[in-house]
Amino acid sequence: MIKWGILGPGNIAKKFASDLRLVPNALLSAVASRDLDKAENFAREYSAERAYGSYQELFDDKEVQVIYIATPHNKHVDLSVKAMNHGKHVLCEKPLGVNAKEVKAMVAASKKNNVFLMEGLWSRFNPAIKKVKQLVDNGEIGKLSYLYANFAFYGTEREKDSRLLNPDLAGGSLLDIGIYPVFLAYLFLGKPQSILATSNFYETGVEVQTSMIFKYENAQAMLYSGLTSNSQTIAEFSGSVGSIVIPERWHAAQGYTMQIEENLETVSLPTKGIGFSHEIEEVQHCIIDNKMESNLWTHVNSIELAELLDSIRAKIGVVFPFEE
Ligand SMILES: NC(=O)c1ccc[n+]([C@@H]2O[C@H](COP(=O)([O-])OP(=O)(O)OC[C@H]3O[C@@H](n4cnc5c(N)ncnc54)[C@H](OP(=O)(O)O)[C@@H]3O)[C@@H](O)[C@H]2O)c1
Repeated sequence: MIKWGILGPGNIAKKFASDLRLVPNALLSAVASRDLDKAENFAREYSAERAYGSYQELFDDKEVQVIYIATPHNKHVDLSVKAMNHGKHVLCEKPLGVNAKEVKAMVAASKKNNVFLMEGLWSRFNPAIKKVKQLVDNGEIGKLSYLYANFAFYGTEREKDSRLLNPDLAGGSLLDIGIYPVFLAYLFLGKPQSILATSNFYETGVEVQTSMIFKYENAQAMLYSGLTSNSQTIAEFSGSVGSIVIPERWHAAQGYTMQIEENLETVSLPTKGIGFSHEIEEVQHCIIDNKMESNLWTHVNSIELAELLDSIRAKIGVVFPFEE
């Protein structure tokens, strides 16, 4: 049995905890919030054995083997490093750090303490996305030359100090949802030769629309993230022979369609639960095998993804107050 702790029982932690129940040999051992009542309510709802009113108590819990960090982005580095310095394995929500420097510090803490660390980029473990990667790598659509991916929802009605709109919490669309299209281009095409990017900004100073073009020698990726409108949130891959579309919302794909000439095939590949179960299973396998990183989403992958996001931010001029 692998004994999990959850730190920061907010919006995403609830979905994670409901999927944790679906994974064999996974036990929710403890949950920690800055507010004990909140931790106790969460523990009751998701059958955690212990509830704490401080994060430190979770780090000190001798039973807990792996901690899922689910706070706003700006807290990921400090809390993950603390957890690893207490000998805990860590699965930390995306983005692993706010910038590449933070991600490198986290990777160094994993190596120093000989513990597992992975970014919770759950789409990497999604069955349909894995299958599409296999098809594209096998040349089923010919040579991939065009990738389109977006992620947008209407988010500007939220409180100005909320996670999405507050620059002090590393808000904006890019790190929250733009990370998915950037990840997809990186997964399928690797690091681009050059990047074009442009943004629109909200009154709090965070960017709320970012368009990106990744240029490769023989391919281009058009990527978009936004908080100003609801969009279809689809991904398309096309090559010399055919194309594949992952329909809305592609980052949590339940299947895809592939068209080769006149032949259109629709394939259903549903997730188990919401889809966090697949990344949880990967973490458990790695821990059982004494690995410090996953082969599917390595430390270098997280560093390179953060470097891409840093490059985009340099182009659109996004520096968070705590980075100045
Ligand atoms: N994989 C996905 O699909 C997905 C989806 C959404 C979000 N995420 C990621 O998950 C992380 C959390 O997102 P969320 O939407 O769950 O956030 P959230 O509900 O706003 O916050 C999560 C928890 O963080 C804790 N926290 C610690 N310091 C905080 C601070 N200064 N301000 C506010 N909360 C603070 C709070 O827990 P306590 O007060 O109880 O300690 C809060 O409940 C983000 O990094 C995001 O990128 C991933």
